[in-house]
Amino acid sequence: MGRHSKMGLTEAKQPRSLLSKMDASYHAASGKLRSSSVTLNAQACQDFWHAQWTASSSDEGAEYTRNMPMAKDNKHMHTRTKFLSQQTGESTTPVDPLGMGIADMDCPPPGVIGKRLAAALSSHYGYHDIHHATANAVSHWFKPQGTQHIAANSPVSPHSVVGVASVVSAVDVALKTFCQPGDSIMILTPTYGPLKACIALNGMQAHDIAISTSSKAAHSINLNALCENASAMVLCHPNNPTGTVLSEQCQEEIVTFCHQHNILLVTDEVHSEFGFSSPYRPASVPLFGSKSRLRDRCNIIHINSVSKAFNLAAVPGASYAIVPNPDSKQQFAQAIKARHLEASFLSQLALIAAYKDGGAWLNALRHSIDYNRQFVDFYFNYHGLHPDYTLGQAGYFLWLNLESKDASRYTCTSAARSFQACLDRGVMGTDGQSFGAPGFIRLNLACHPRVIEQALDRIFFNRF
Ligand SMILES: Cc1ncc(COP(=O)(O)O)c(C=O)c1O
Repeated sequence: MGRHSKMGLTEAKQPRSLLSKMDASYHAASGKLRSSSVTLNAQACQDFWHAQWTASSSDEGAEYTRNMPMAKDNKHMHTRTKFLSQQTGESTTPVDPLGMGIADMDCPPPGVIGKRLAAALSSHYGYHDIHHATANAVSHWFKPQGTQHIAANSPVSPHSVVGVASVVSAVDVALKTFCQPGDSIMILTPTYGPLKACIALNGMQAHDIAISTSSKAAHSINLNALCENASAMVLCHPNNPTGTVLSEQCQEEIVTFCHQHNILLVTDEVHSEFGFSSPYRPASVPLFGSKSRLRDRCNIIHINSVSKAFNLAAVPGASYAIVPNPDSKQQFAQAIKARHLEASFLSQLALIAAYKDGGAWLNALRHSIDYNRQFVDFYFNYHGLHPDYTLGQAGYFLWLNLESKDASRYTCTSAARSFQACLDRGVMGTDGQSFGAPGFIRLNLACHPRVIEQALDRIFFNRF
């Protein structure tokens, strides 16, 4: 692929879509890998998104050109874009909007979940306690021999599981239960904004630990920045928006530090099902610190949810905490119960169906996201662009510095330099400001790759 040969071409001579060129390189890579268990079919990945697209649109007569869907034909995209525009305060965008902001995906959840919920709605009334089934489903999901998690994971006892209504409420209750107003709480920056808001809303002080936003960064943080006097650390891992997965050694050092200084470690692991550490082999990211000694892990509260991995935000699917220390688990469970923040019956049914029967769906989805992530790298290489960006090792986000200086001739003149400039071009991402990083944009890549190409064309070349 002669990326330099493209530099001299006029825009008019460029092909309409780079996807076919990307596919050629994808197939070449598949030839080099021997594992037959890996799905490396580029067309299958595109077909995945294409199928989602057509499935979620009910417009009679909507035209779908293979690999070239238009945002306006997609019902689901419309609802996401509308929701996003309410959030950003933008009532309209001047051009066809590409909704790449909020962290949900352009595909319906596995059909089996909808069927189970619909059946339950007409047969179950009143209050139900299915916590044991939920706890068993979570425990099974993390079993080393289970379908999703490789041997690196440590076993999760069903007794350590607490069902909760949402991830952020679980973080909030953990801070309320185990810390005091005025306490210092460590948190990564940039990171998911509501986590930092939780700290402030509880009258606690955020102690920022910087994490690199560069794709070439080491998978670690500056351990000297850890604070002995903090009473907790709230850690988004994998980190949203940078997709950072810390090295096993770094995880171990954090766990040991927290254990030594009696610091509660609250991990938000909601993006952990989307691990892309090795290309073409997506897998779940193991529980944070699972390589650490059991003794050192007794003050961790791991929080996760099926909402993100199985696209169940509208239900929502159940969230849960894994609290290995029995005393802490009891205290935490009581605090959740006292606030009526347990996971609802339907959300738990969704979790059980997802963890029992959603594995194959999740795998296909992960390969399709892997393809999209590789397409982003391909796009920049092909055009000879060198923006400051990262996809991290997990998640479905492109984290892009709009203010980065790029020596290449292409970007200098036409690239959008601010979040507002992206909005003006109809690219509705998430403003880096909400993660504590103004000048950045987060783009959701869980969509048809043609949408990603359109968005990048608009951002870098002002081309529609
Ligand atoms: C890192 C992270 N945590 C939590 C949430 C929200 O979870 P919940 O709605 O269950 O509070 C999100 C949603 O995007 C997220 O990205």
